[in-house]
Amino acid sequence: FAAITPANAMKMNVIQPVRGRFDFVDADALYAFAQQNGLEFRGHPLVWHTQAANWLEEEGVDRDTTLAIMYEHMDGLMGHFPDLPYWDVVNEAIERNSEGVWTFRDTFWHRMIGDDLIDLAFQHARALDPDAKLLYNDYNIEQLGHPKADKVFEMISDMKARGIPIDAVGFQSHYYVEPNGNTNPGVPNIQAIRDNMARYAAIGVDVHITECDFRIGRPLDPTKEELQKSFFAGLLQACIDAPNCSHFTVWGLSDVDSWVPSTFPDYDYAHLFDAQFVAKPAYAALTTVLAQYNPDGTPIGSGGGATSTGGTPSTGGAPSTAGAPSTGGGSRDDGGCSVGPRSNTLWPA
Ligand code: G3I
Repeated sequence: FAAITPANAMKMNVIQPVRGRFDFVDADALYAFAQQNGLEFRGHPLVWHTQAANWLEEEGVDRDTTLAIMYEHMDGLMGHFPDLPYWDVVNEAIERNSEGVWTFRDTFWHRMIGDDLIDLAFQHARALDPDAKLLYNDYNIEQLGHPKADKVFEMISDMKARGIPIDAVGFQSHYYVEPNGNTNPGVPNIQAIRDNMARYAAIGVDVHITECDFRIGRPLDPTKEELQKSFFAGLLQACIDAPNCSHFTVWGLSDVDSWVPSTFPDYDYAHLFDAQFVAKPAYAALTTVLAQYNPDGTPIGSGGGATSTGGTPSTGGAPSTAGAPSTGGGSRDDGGCSVGPRSNTLWPA
C-alpha cells in the first residue's frame, strides 16, 4: 500500500468538537504513521453533513455565520496539514429530492449557505493550498448513465467551465451483492465505469477510486465471493487502463472492524481480508492484476521499469518496496495502492 486515508479522524465532530478548539490527536497519529512508512496521506473530508460538529447548528444562525464556520474549519484543518497532496473538499453533496430530481443534498450547510456552497468551498481550499489536488467525493457516481453519476458529471463540467478549482472526482465505489444473490444494481457495469472515467478525461478531471469495497449480503457463499473478486479486479484494471485514474483506495482492510454491519445489518465481508486477517480471493485477484506491471506502472515486458527502484515485482516473503510514493518526474500521478504479490502473512515475523 502506498497511501492512507483517515476513515474518521479528520471528521468535523472529531477535529473540532468545540468551536475554535481543534483536536488533532488521532489525525496526527495517523499522519505520523504515514510519514514513518512512506505513505501518502489523504485529507478526508473538509465539508460533509455527516459527523458534523454538534455545535454547528447552534452557531450557524445564518449564511454569513455558517460560511464563517466553514472557512474557519477549513483554515484549521488545512492549516494544520499544509502539505497533503489530496483533499476531499466536499463529500456527498448530491441526492435525489422528494420529487425525484437529482440536486443539491438538503443539508444544514446547503440550507444556510445556498447553491454556491460547493464553489465557495473549492475556492477557499485553493486559496489555502495552491498545490493540493482538490476532489469532489461521492458514491453511486461511478457509472455513466446512472442519473446521479450524470448529475455529478454535469456539475463538475460546469465548475470546470466556470474556472472553479477542482482537480479530481472521487468515485467512492461501495458496491454489493444482495442477500438473495441479486446483482442488480449492486454489481457495477465496469464498462460504464470506464466510459465515465473517459468523459472526465475529456474535461481534464482526474478520477480517484477513494473508498472501494464490496459488501456481501448474508450468508456468504462462493458465488458471492466470486462476484467480489471480479469486482475488485475489474475496477482496479479499469483504473489502471484509464490515463486519468491515478488512485485505487480500499475503505478498510479487513472485516474485523468494518463500517458495513452497523450500517447494513444484512451485510458483511466487504474487505480484502477476513476477520482473521486471512487474505481473500479478492486480494489475490488484485495482486494478479498488479503483477502485470512494474512498480513504475509500465507493463512488464514493455521495456519500461528502468527508472523504478523495485525493478521486478515482489514474489513473496519480504515486504515489497513497490508501494513507496512515486518521486519520479513522469507526467502521470503514480500514487495510490500498490499491492505486491506475497503470502497471506500480513506482517512476516
Ligand atoms: O467514536 C464513537 C465512539 O466514541 C462511540 O462510543 C461509538 C458509539 O456509536 O461511536 C463512535 O463513532 C462511530 C465512528 O464511526 C467511529 O467508529 C460512529 O458512531 C459511526 O457512525 C462512524 O461511522 C463512520 C461513518 O463513515 C459515519 O458516517 C465509519 O466508521 C466510516 O467508515 C464511514 O466512512 C464513510 C466515508 O467517510 C464517506 N463515504 C461513506 C463511508 C462509509 O459510510
